[in-house]
Amino acid sequence: MVEKVFVTRRIPQAGLDALAAGAEVVVSPHDRDLSPEEVIAQSAGCRALVPTLANRVDGPLFDARPEIRIVANFAVGVDNIDLEAARQRGVVVTNTPGVLTAATADLAMALILAVTRRLVEGDAILRAGQFKGITPLFMLGSDLEGKTLGVFGLGRIGLALARRAAAFGLRIIYHKRSRRPEAEAELGAAYVGFDQLLAESDILSINAPLTEETKGLFNYQAFARMKREAFLINTGRGPIVVEADLVRALDEGLIQGAGLDVYEREPEVHPGLLDKKNVVLAPHLGSATQEVRTKMALLVAENVIAFLGGREPPNRVV
Ligand code: DGY
Repeated sequence: MVEKVFVTRRIPQAGLDALAAGAEVVVSPHDRDLSPEEVIAQSAGCRALVPTLANRVDGPLFDARPEIRIVANFAVGVDNIDLEAARQRGVVVTNTPGVLTAATADLAMALILAVTRRLVEGDAILRAGQFKGITPLFMLGSDLEGKTLGVFGLGRIGLALARRAAAFGLRIIYHKRSRRPEAEAELGAAYVGFDQLLAESDILSINAPLTEETKGLFNYQAFARMKREAFLINTGRGPIVVEADLVRALDEGLIQGAGLDVYEREPEVHPGLLDKKNVVLAPHLGSATQEVRTKMALLVAENVIAFLGGREPPNRVV
């Protein structure tokens, strides 16, 4: 019997083709974020669910659709899924690790360069016809060489960013639940406590997953302990930062600027961030390359097909 898989919105065709080789694929006809009720209604009779980060997958969904036995998330982060609810019901959860590591680290590096060298601000000035020629004090930014990058969460992506940053002459410090001796040996990265990370970073990059421990950790008190010249970069998850506190910290000059790819209440962005020249904002582009999204779709398919074929999915989280 061919099992059905429900995909909540369009993913790259290569992934749909790979899924179709071993399942009947039902893709939502609406290419938009579905409400939980719509996911329930449209996934009737499906044994596999392929959600995106915008879909909350939790106990009520599992109870309404007990036929769903695997959730193959189209993302490496799984904070949109209630993992405990899945565990309790014996539902398998998979993600897409590895394939987006380099692209996300590239984007973090791009935000670091853009905000420290005032690229977006400069682009706007030029387009507005306000570039009157180079002058000694025009649009001075901040150097990277010799500065300190603090990485909060030195996992796969944090390490890939640290490697890039080391090539730019940055000294690396990091904070994580457990130490990574291989990163210390390779990059000379120094393990520091959270307070020291805040106090010593010239650029502080959040590369951690969203968990109960990390949620809201970067609040006003944290910003008050950072250097006034420091920049905050977030390509991890929005709710790790209290956005209203970040706006206040920027208004009060507690830190110098920020480069953000993720937001506390996506797709909403705190209005206080929108008019700031010292903030560079990207619309959650970390994994948004043609190549990476195709690889993510293929991984999703590999996990679903393995599970439906009675094999262990390669990227099992639960
Ligand atoms: C992920 O996969 O978790 C990313 O945030 C999506 O770009």
